[in-house]
Amino acid sequence: MLGLIDFCTAGLFFLVYMPLGLQDEIDEILGHKTQRYWVAYVLGIPTMFIYTLVWMARIAEELRGKAKELGIEAPYTSWWHMFGWNTFGVLFFGPAVATHRFFDTLNRIENRLKQSGMRKAIIIGATSGIGRETAARLVKEGWEIGIAGRRTEALEAFRNEFGEAAHIATMDVTRPDATHVLDALLEEMGAPNLFFYVSGVGYQNRELDLDKEIRTIQTNCEGMVRLVDHFLNYVREHPEAYTKEKMAHIAVVTSIAGTAGLGTAPAYSATKKMQQTYLSALSQLARMEKIPVRFTDIRPGFVATDILNPDKKYPMLLSKEKAADEVMKAISRKKRIHTFDWKFRILVMGWRLIPRWVWERMTWVKN
Ligand SMILES: NC(=O)c1ccc[n+]([C@@H]2O[C@H](COP(=O)([O-])OP(=O)(O)OC[C@H]3O[C@@H](n4cnc5c(N)ncnc54)[C@H](OP(=O)(O)O)[C@@H]3O)[C@@H](O)[C@H]2O)c1
Repeated sequence: MLGLIDFCTAGLFFLVYMPLGLQDEIDEILGHKTQRYWVAYVLGIPTMFIYTLVWMARIAEELRGKAKELGIEAPYTSWWHMFGWNTFGVLFFGPAVATHRFFDTLNRIENRLKQSGMRKAIIIGATSGIGRETAARLVKEGWEIGIAGRRTEALEAFRNEFGEAAHIATMDVTRPDATHVLDALLEEMGAPNLFFYVSGVGYQNRELDLDKEIRTIQTNCEGMVRLVDHFLNYVREHPEAYTKEKMAHIAVVTSIAGTAGLGTAPAYSATKKMQQTYLSALSQLARMEKIPVRFTDIRPGFVATDILNPDKKYPMLLSKEKAADEVMKAISRKKRIHTFDWKFRILVMGWRLIPRWVWERMTWVKN
């Protein structure tokens, strides 16, 4: 009885933990997509979880192979360690022993991979705000980065602070020559693992100042299409750098504003919706064309950056640091869509339920 409880709790622990990012980490380390754990768990129910256990034991064996390949010293998890402790050792807290060894091996592999293969990222829009904060995090985690934006002095200040790990390129995403600047950066750095588009402008514009509306469309829509498409074609043209096992990752910061038309910021909310739909289309296209790339759509709520109106008060405002934590989470887990934080997730869920004819009459919405 004790053993069964022990076994079920370990299984349930993985059931919760896998979708929270653990399975994505395993996929990345093993270089292929593994069957979703919840499927293995459900299929395991009629066989008293033997199927689930064998599935887990296979993953453990693959991790052992990876650890050996990287020259990591034993002990490691293995088929027998996972299966044996979960069956023969079940009365002696075997699942806990197997789980502990599993995570120990996983962590040591991750640390070794971090030390050996330097990861590379290109960040468009890293001179301030969310982009700059994320760029700093990536450098601290050992990434080599290429950062772009219009303000050369801000790019140079970043390099002075963080050193040679940062390549810089002055770029205006609304100009056609932005693709040449990107090409030069790609040439200098080589193929990046991550392409991160954060550039964006937005205004509260009840007066419908045309210049602001059109600048928003040019930066958020035209700029994103120009740079993201150019990078996607780069991935297509470099099959030696990107494969099914080593996929490129494109992440774009959109906004929760893209989930509803905001009367105070028509162009901003519409451009964010366009970005979200465009990413969904590209994700389908990449599958059609078998381009090895993953997409992440990052949707923040209010973050204390220069884009917000300093004279206004914003509810549930997040710091740049907190925003960067969330972006790092979305990037490392390669989530398809990540809305943050949890309060904004609930808010968005709620306002999606509001019928259009009610939404359009909610004239008290001021942000
Ligand atoms: N802060 C929020 O509450 C919030 C909420 C949801 C979504 N977002 C989104 O988050 C992204 C980043 O904004 P942020 O809040 O971090 O504001 P920010 O501090 O103003 O950052 C905007 C970045 O975009 C770059 N950029 C603007 N126009 C550009 C152009 N023409 N060419 C190249 N780069 C350009 C800026 O660089 P240069 O000025 O040097 O060119 C800057 O690095 C935006 O897409 C924004 O819509 C922000």
